[in-house]
Amino acid sequence: MNRLFIPQKIIELSSVESTNNYLVDLSQNIDLDEGTIIMTNHQTKGKGQRENYWASEYGKSLCISMLLKPYLNVSQQFLFNKFISLSLCQALLEYNIPAVIKWPNDILINTKKVAGILIENSIQSYEIEKSIIGIGVNISNNIKHIPNATSLNNYLNVIPSQYELLNIICFKVESNYELLKKNPILVNKLYHNNLFKLGEVQKFSKNGELFDGIINSVNDNGQLLVELNGRLDLYNNGEIKFMI
Ligand code: BTN
Repeated sequence: MNRLFIPQKIIELSSVESTNNYLVDLSQNIDLDEGTIIMTNHQTKGKGQRENYWASEYGKSLCISMLLKPYLNVSQQFLFNKFISLSLCQALLEYNIPAVIKWPNDILINTKKVAGILIENSIQSYEIEKSIIGIGVNISNNIKHIPNATSLNNYLNVIPSQYELLNIICFKVESNYELLKKNPILVNKLYHNNLFKLGEVQKFSKNGELFDGIINSVNDNGQLLVELNGRLDLYNNGEIKFMI
């Protein structure tokens, strides 16, 4: 297999507002190669999902954004998301860490979030022509003040360097990228194999009300299917909250 990303261009910045914003802007001005990566030790305005702030201490996490040009149909946008979450889980498994994906794409170790993904796509003629994939992994962040968060150093004796972790993630992204194009059904299956609480009862909160439901699956639109009293309900991201 030809390597796509490494040694592909890696732009390292000691500090930046957000690697995602930087890569979005750069890719609008320059025709960047697929596989270009922006990496930084410090973000002043790290972006999380749904307008949240992504915090990290200087040099203690992996903060990267990666450019892919998948030219997949827009209907496969969430599948693309699944492939990235899957790749992160597989990367952590290389360290013998059994991470799972909490819908839609939080990466957890033992119910605590260790990594987050923020994908920003640009669509042309119903195709994803550019995807900016932002990944943040807590390596040795002091996350005691952040509820339900963890860092890799809580599980490893030897703390991985940012470069080592980046290499492993790129390797997994690369091999799953091929799989995504050849066998999207398998990618979907593997995402579900790593899905937090699949087939299990989970407590949720919706508009302040608590309910228990069985996690059934995540459909092509990225909606969570929850079984409740023999019926399947569909939820969009942000509509319900996991009570962990
Ligand atoms: C989330 O779980 O809310 C998504 C977090 C994504 C954080 C990463 S860090 C690198 C990249 N640049 C950003 O501004 N955000 C993503």
